Amino acid sequence: MSTHIGAKQGDISKTVLMPGDPLRAKYIAETFLEDVKQYNTVRNAFGYTGTYKGQEISVQGTGMGIPSVMIYGEELIQEYGVENLIRVGSAGGMKKEIKIRDVVLAQAATTDSSLHRHIFNNQVDFAPIADFDLLKHAYDIGMDKNMSIRVGNVLSADRFYNAELDKQKLADYGVLAVEMEAAGLYSLAAKHNKRALALLTISDHLLTGEETTAEERQTTFNDMMIIALEAALR
Ligand code: ADE
Repeated sequence: MSTHIGAKQGDISKTVLMPGDPLRAKYIAETFLEDVKQYNTVRNAFGYTGTYKGQEISVQGTGMGIPSVMIYGEELIQEYGVENLIRVGSAGGMKKEIKIRDVVLAQAATTDSSLHRHIFNNQVDFAPIADFDLLKHAYDIGMDKNMSIRVGNVLSADRFYNAELDKQKLADYGVLAVEMEAAGLYSLAAKHNKRALALLTISDHLLTGEETTAEERQTTFNDMMIIALEAALR
């Protein structure tokens, strides 16, 4: 086992779906996968491996925020040889054109975290980006299925509650939505030459104050899951 994951070598697939909420990991495993085995209960960060259309795939709850997703991402890559890391989560809409229930594919992830200043010793502002192949597959699948897909920059925020944040400025610069993990995941994938993508359903809107109902969240989440699972097969 690794420090935070109680799995044996070989228990985890090369492709891992990564919801923030461990109960989402359980839901994904029970709803979409077959022949499921649970490989992790440490800290209730549930992890499962099963098959989707005959191909092995894992799903690992990561907790919230860049520090937490980077713990699971690092161990999945370094200790279990994971190659494809696909975040499936929610985000708050920032641009007016983004509607609740849209699925946003995070092409890049701006962040207010000091992560990259430390990694690059203040020399550059690193731009964490999605893997192009995963992004293209997800986009093509979503478009084929007539889903409301948006592609662009997101903000990976260090704080969920942040009244000081200039949301309008970020929206003016094309930032579509805010979430809390993608920049950490993309940066980790870049460091280890792995592939990462974040798919996000818009659950609330920071400019309009709109929110989805629990039922709407479930339906959109299921749509997003189909895109993530089909992209993982390619
Ligand atoms: N995830 C869903 N909604 C969010 C928001 N408003 N801020 C940060 N992360 C989110």
